[in-house]
Amino acid sequence: MNDQQEWQEQDSDDFIELGEYFVPERQVQMDVITSVIPEPQEPGEILDLCCGQGRLSEALLKAFPKSTVVGLDLSTAMLGTASRELSGHGTRFRTEQFDLAERNWRTRAEAPAAVVSSLAVHHLDGPGKRELFRDVHAMLRPGGSLVIADLVQPTGARGLELTRRMWDESVREQSLAGTGGLRPYERFHELEWSCYQYPDELDKPSSVLDQLNWLRDAGFGEVDLYWMKAGHAIFGGVKAGK
Ligand SMILES: C[S@@+](CC[C@H](N)C(=O)[O-])C[C@H]1O[C@@H](n2cnc3c(N)ncnc32)[C@H](O)[C@@H]1O
Repeated sequence: MNDQQEWQEQDSDDFIELGEYFVPERQVQMDVITSVIPEPQEPGEILDLCCGQGRLSEALLKAFPKSTVVGLDLSTAMLGTASRELSGHGTRFRTEQFDLAERNWRTRAEAPAAVVSSLAVHHLDGPGKRELFRDVHAMLRPGGSLVIADLVQPTGARGLELTRRMWDESVREQSLAGTGGLRPYERFHELEWSCYQYPDELDKPSSVLDQLNWLRDAGFGEVDLYWMKAGHAIFGGVKAGK
């Protein structure tokens, strides 16, 4: 995504416009995430870290009608869009501005029933992810889960080339299917969006294996990889107890 080191508001605008073409099988991913979160036994909060324009938050609100969803993000453009688009859910949805890398938001008044995040944790480096997994494990209520959908790093040159090609083909297909043309696919390249083709300082994906180990080290059980395609994986774990 060029050589910037931090997510910019222009990236938010680009993602709002083009995310549906750039992200492989978005609807499938939402279904997987909502399927693997254990139904909360009691009403409670689900945190959507780096909620963007609120697509995943919306799926969570529909899947868990007794729960409240808190969408957290740094971008005012994203928070504004999410608040507007999910205003129909009243007090069941609210936003908070936060910086994922900071730790001040990780002490909550109420222990969340679940924490999810889509396409954002790769902005943290390896030690940052490990710390996040430990802090989320500490904050969750017993029986609560952490589910992450994110870019993951292949560990060899052949895996990297396959991943690059599969993501490219996915964007091409979704571009043709959605618009009848290749403009979103061309923008994908103009913006140098794929970290597998255009590595940059902003994107720091870690391997699946490392992240599953870090979840286990943080104390999570039932640690699993639930779904994967073209460098996009969904994985998570559950905190013991009820
Ligand atoms: C690729 S978008 C994904 C949005 C949404 N989760 C989705 O899947 O549609 C990445 C999101 O992470 C947010 N973000 C990036 N860096 C962040 C940070 N340090 N703290 C909080 N949010 C951040 C961006 O504002 C953006 O909304």
